[in-house]
Amino acid sequence: MTFDRSPKLAPSILSADFANFGAEIRAIEEQGADWVHVDVMDGHFVPNLTFGPALCAAIRPHIRTVMDVHLMIAPVDPYIEAFSKAGADVISAHVESGPHIHRTLQAIRGAGCRAGVAINPGTPAEAVENLLDMVDLINVMTVNPGFGGQKFIESQYEKIRRLRAMIGDRPVHIEIDGGIDATTAPRAIAAGADILVAGSAIFSGGSVERPAVYGENMNRLRKAITAGNPG
Ligand code: DX5
Ligand code: ZN
Repeated sequence: MTFDRSPKLAPSILSADFANFGAEIRAIEEQGADWVHVDVMDGHFVPNLTFGPALCAAIRPHIRTVMDVHLMIAPVDPYIEAFSKAGADVISAHVESGPHIHRTLQAIRGAGCRAGVAINPGTPAEAVENLLDMVDLINVMTVNPGFGGQKFIESQYEKIRRLRAMIGDRPVHIEIDGGIDATTAPRAIAAGADILVAGSAIFSGGSVERPAVYGENMNRLRKAITAGNPG
């Protein structure tokens, strides 16, 4: 797959109907989603519980784009192979999830996946400085991980700018995750992000019976990005 920095939308299925993942995924992809973001939480690293490898394997056949698995779990290393076998294209692990993120990222690539490193709002950009040549993506958490529907933390724009400068011309995406809407999306893109994870802003008001709403919500985000970043 070729690398490009054109803005992409990655709906988080944390905001989908949990009783209907297959149809929800088909709906968001038909409506123009670029990636599908899967938030894995363990009730330990973050105060919420969501999905495991079995769920990822079950939804995999429904995903035609990119299965982007965000692991909010600690420890993370014992589960990498399982998520890889479940069909993840991208696996992101948190820099805060343990003392050996370097080893973790090696293991993710070793399992044949693209590697992402995620950083919490309280962690500085410099925490990933020595990892830039071993990742395909940096997930900048723009809310504290654990729940959808939270407010974007403004201090993260500056972190995105710093990371963009640190990355230089390396083929590394900046993904932002949490509180993305038509106001925050264009500002984050201007700061240097290129992959936008959004739960509430894409799923609200829609359903598998009303999938066009997902398309309208994504169009609203894309228009806001274009208007805020002309040329
Ligand atoms: C939070 C998750 C996010 C979340 C985004 O821990 O990593 O992906 O679902 O949801 P919204 O867009 O509602 O903030
Ligand atoms: Zn996420």
